Amino acid sequence: MNKYSIPLALIILTLLFSCSSNTGETGSSADQNTEVRINKLIAQMTLQEKLGQMSQFDPMQFGSDENAKQAIKEGKVGSMLNIIGAKRVNELQKTAIDESRLGIPIIIGRDVIHGYRTITPIPLGMAASWNPALSSKAMAMAAEEAASEGIHWTFAPMIDVSRDPRWGRIAESCGEDTHLASAMAKAMVLGFQGEDLSDPKTIAACAKHYVGYGAAEGGRDYNTTYIPENLLRNDYLPPFKAAVDAGVATFMSGFNDLNGVPASGNEFTLKTVLREEWGFDGMVVSDWASIAEMIAHGYAADSKEAGFKALRAGVDMEMVSDCYVANVQILLDEGKIDMSIIDKYVANILRVKFRLGLFDHPYTDETLAEKTILSEEHKQIAKEAASESFVLLQNKNNVLPLSKEINSVAVIGPLADAPHDQMGTWVFDGKKENTVTPLTALTNMLGAKKINFAKGLETSRTKTSEGFADAIKAAKKSDAVLLFFGEESILSGEAHSLADLNLRGAQTQLLEAVAKTGKPIVLVIMAGRQLTIEKELDKVDAVLYAWAPGTMGGPALAEMIFGETVPSGKLPVTFPKTVGQVPLYYAHKNTGRPADYNSWTSIDDIPVEAGQTSLGNTSHYLDAGFEPLFPFGFGLSYTTFEYSDLELSSNTMGTDGSIDVSVNLKNAGDRAGIEVVQLYIRDRVGSLTRPVKQLKGFKKVSLTPGETRKISITLNAKDLEFYNGKDYIIEAGDFDIWVGGSSAKGLHDEFSVN
Ligand code: NOJ
Repeated sequence: MNKYSIPLALIILTLLFSCSSNTGETGSSADQNTEVRINKLIAQMTLQEKLGQMSQFDPMQFGSDENAKQAIKEGKVGSMLNIIGAKRVNELQKTAIDESRLGIPIIIGRDVIHGYRTITPIPLGMAASWNPALSSKAMAMAAEEAASEGIHWTFAPMIDVSRDPRWGRIAESCGEDTHLASAMAKAMVLGFQGEDLSDPKTIAACAKHYVGYGAAEGGRDYNTTYIPENLLRNDYLPPFKAAVDAGVATFMSGFNDLNGVPASGNEFTLKTVLREEWGFDGMVVSDWASIAEMIAHGYAADSKEAGFKALRAGVDMEMVSDCYVANVQILLDEGKIDMSIIDKYVANILRVKFRLGLFDHPYTDETLAEKTILSEEHKQIAKEAASESFVLLQNKNNVLPLSKEINSVAVIGPLADAPHDQMGTWVFDGKKENTVTPLTALTNMLGAKKINFAKGLETSRTKTSEGFADAIKAAKKSDAVLLFFGEESILSGEAHSLADLNLRGAQTQLLEAVAKTGKPIVLVIMAGRQLTIEKELDKVDAVLYAWAPGTMGGPALAEMIFGETVPSGKLPVTFPKTVGQVPLYYAHKNTGRPADYNSWTSIDDIPVEAGQTSLGNTSHYLDAGFEPLFPFGFGLSYTTFEYSDLELSSNTMGTDGSIDVSVNLKNAGDRAGIEVVQLYIRDRVGSLTRPVKQLKGFKKVSLTPGETRKISITLNAKDLEFYNGKDYIIEAGDFDIWVGGSSAKGLHDEFSVN
């Protein structure tokens, strides 16, 4: 048997069948009209023109815009990425419209991940806001700025459920939870795409990386993923389904090997689930050369086989590599594929171009960028987004907020004035000149006389203590110390995995040296992931986790530190005490021997020459216990909230019913505050074991001092559905329910489904 040993007829049949759900023929007469136009165009296209549509190029592949124009003229280019500037894009577009035989517009893609020029927090920070509406607003702003520079399509949102902070790309994700990631996925798609994709202020979104990329072994980027189908369907696929339901225009197939089949050649995920089950009729683009990379994966012998397998799975457009262009004619001649498949994929691509209105309005208004980019309104949105992303992790003796009456503050640390790093990973277009750092913002707020600045360390990786003396001097002459620590932007993101999650360089030593001054210390951490900061906690008074907060991170931090705003973020990821606990996430299974304090012996208490014993026989670490440093959903405020009177409208629910869950939330302090009320359930017994807790709803609410408000969240039976290996089912049985301010704490009740 040769490597294409699957019977040809079967493949062709399968391919044909896979296309039948992808006709785009339902819907309005406008849709039908579009389908007619698509079919007419395809009927006129040569194979070279079809393959052109299926190819996306980076400008470096052409070397010059002149070469790019020549290829466009010849109908060889359907899309380009990494070209910006309305004028430049318009010139290339003009070549496509006026000089290519069929005048099909090109679509320009770009990684507009968390802002274009006005940068909002990294997606992990946006997820910490637990405010999907705000995330939508931020993405709409990014879309408007990007569109003004000729970009039609962003490769975002990245909605890979991510449970391993060693993985650098956790920064780009919405964190560990399926429900939160799904809510954010929907919000981001709606933000980028708006109500009408042909509106010049909107751009097409791309749900990526389909699928499972976040489960890379050991957190090493691009690594192998093993995700059994029930876990895939219950935990990893729902954010992508939410994106489809929100109308996402495109998908990106990932780099990862998923259960032995690379994501860009995976028929199960791309064809069975995405096209057949979900009815997605947009376009799928491969990740950068991920089709060709199937050779290195050992899934294809050569470029021809890689192209064949990606076609068989259903990847419409190939990013950068040339397995399609180089091999489709041969595959057709050999009868391994049928032209109808190529036509179908070209139709998927053209459909997105029609939805974007590119056929009717191919050009970008060259005057827009100036009016749009970094407008005051956009900076306000960026500030609001940064502010809501901050999570207050510790606030001993209510040291925060500081009073503006303070005589002086020391501003110390490598990230106090790091305009580039504060923007975070995946920023191509943001400029450090436009970033306002904490040092600048604090100086503007308090006046230069009150600020004693000493960097202490040049960067987050600096190991020398040369700058310590100045930092200690600054601390000594100040009433309080603000330490801006964390990691530089380049330490998270693609291919930036880490095996050590402690503060790097000499940051901990600097903190210890400053702590000896006895001054109150506020530690602000900017990072692309959760760092292991247990040993720093008892040396500082307050800890504010600020992720990478973007352009307006400085003013947002200054305002929060001095009480003009209040912290309202909650963790979208579990914080481990030490990297050895990873992966650590709240929605884990219980095991047959769940850990508890009665059965845990700390390593320090084990007797010398202890006899053979299993030390409690439960699932824990002797040295790190079994609890995280901070649980998912955790975050303090400047006030305190009291939860009472948990009520369920009924303690039973049918398999198509719902329950209204309400709680009284009181702001028990004397400051206004914002709380994220979280609803968790546990399905006690299932035909497959179920997680110990699962988030099923949340609401972000503001309360004035002393105010009590009844907060209601509806729990639908559908929220209890899971895939049991065969079907999606809602099983009868008993459930726990908790409502509270984190995954670790909440009022409890129970209900049953019958
Ligand atoms: C590779 C990354 O994995 C993907 O997220 C990105 O969109 C593409 N490169 C394009 O830059």
